[in-house]
Amino acid sequence: MQVRLFKPSLGPEELDAVRGAFERAWLGLGPKVSEFEEAWTKYIGSAVSMGVNSGTAALHMALAAWRFPEGKKVLVPAMTFIASASAALYNRLEPVFVDCDEDTLGLDLEDLERKITPDCVAVVAVHMGGHPVPMERLLAIARKHNLKVVEDCAHCAGGEYRGRKLGTWGDIGCFSFEEKKSMTTGDGGMLVANDPELLEPLRPMRWVGIDKDTWRRNALYTDKTADAHHWYYEIHMVGYKYNMNDLCASIGLVQLGKLDNMNALRRSHIARYLEGLSGVDHLRPLLPYDLSGNSSYWLFGVRSARRDDLILQLKRRGIATGVHYTPLNLHPLFAHHREPCETARAVYPTMITLPLFADLTAEEIDYVVDAVRSFPAD
Ligand SMILES: Cc1ncc(COP(=O)(O)O)c(C=O)c1O
Repeated sequence: MQVRLFKPSLGPEELDAVRGAFERAWLGLGPKVSEFEEAWTKYIGSAVSMGVNSGTAALHMALAAWRFPEGKKVLVPAMTFIASASAALYNRLEPVFVDCDEDTLGLDLEDLERKITPDCVAVVAVHMGGHPVPMERLLAIARKHNLKVVEDCAHCAGGEYRGRKLGTWGDIGCFSFEEKKSMTTGDGGMLVANDPELLEPLRPMRWVGIDKDTWRRNALYTDKTADAHHWYYEIHMVGYKYNMNDLCASIGLVQLGKLDNMNALRRSHIARYLEGLSGVDHLRPLLPYDLSGNSSYWLFGVRSARRDDLILQLKRRGIATGVHYTPLNLHPLFAHHREPCETARAVYPTMITLPLFADLTAEEIDYVVDAVRSFPAD
């Protein structure tokens, strides 16, 4: 048996939606993007949403929203994907790496407070693997130190914390619809905010700086009542080619309809894993999985003192594994940073990500459990 690590859950509905975009012969930024943005706003409970072509683009633009002066600092978890930190670098801001909590692998809020200096302007809160950062505590710290809060929700689309959707707690929430994520558009991302004023200036930024969407002007091209300047637009800023397109939005609309069910399936797969692995003393679950309510875990894994041997054992059985993540401050790119993140450094050599996706079967989970259980304790 071969078991993949991640797999998008796609069916004929997504194919039909793509066919619809072909039939309309409008594949770029268009009405489907607006429709998806409206549906996402309603689902998440934000005031506004903006579709882009990746979670990385969403994070880049989120930190651009406040036009922070060059060289200011952004607090970023060490235990995350590079995009959470690149967003600061793209905006000529400096990431300050914050250690992770030993249990949740999310931001260690004590280390966060220790590392805040007057130059810090924002914090990126990553809900690592789908486990929520305690947002009420983070927001209290952010308020005290006048920090803007960007929630990186790449791992937790649809997840809630204390009955409120993740992404709506901070100033701006950023989602990823990359193919491995909780739901997918192939590649894609979304920004959400409770204050529409925050996102509106970013709309031209996602569309090379142009202040009008082509598809909205398109109807005027042959409108006899419109003047000859239907083509006119102005550029007031440096923009990026970050727009979501109609092809992706068509898939996204279908996937959004399936998201709650896909999150529920992942919860039940994790429950089966946890039951199957209970009593294996030399392992512990990667995260403190709380499967009550509307949690949206995206990563399942275990921690083992003999991580590499276990990875090899699973490889031999055809089971794909991963490690999420090498702490960012240990990468050569950040050699000059090296602020201490001792927990992340100590924990990551024990971390293994195991297969988790909505369409994972009970048989596959049991196969993985059996392979893990048969791994000798020492
Ligand atoms: C925590 C985190 N943030 C941001 C991203 C970037 O998302 P995308 O791949 O859509 O650019 C990822 C992608 O894996 C991620 O894991």
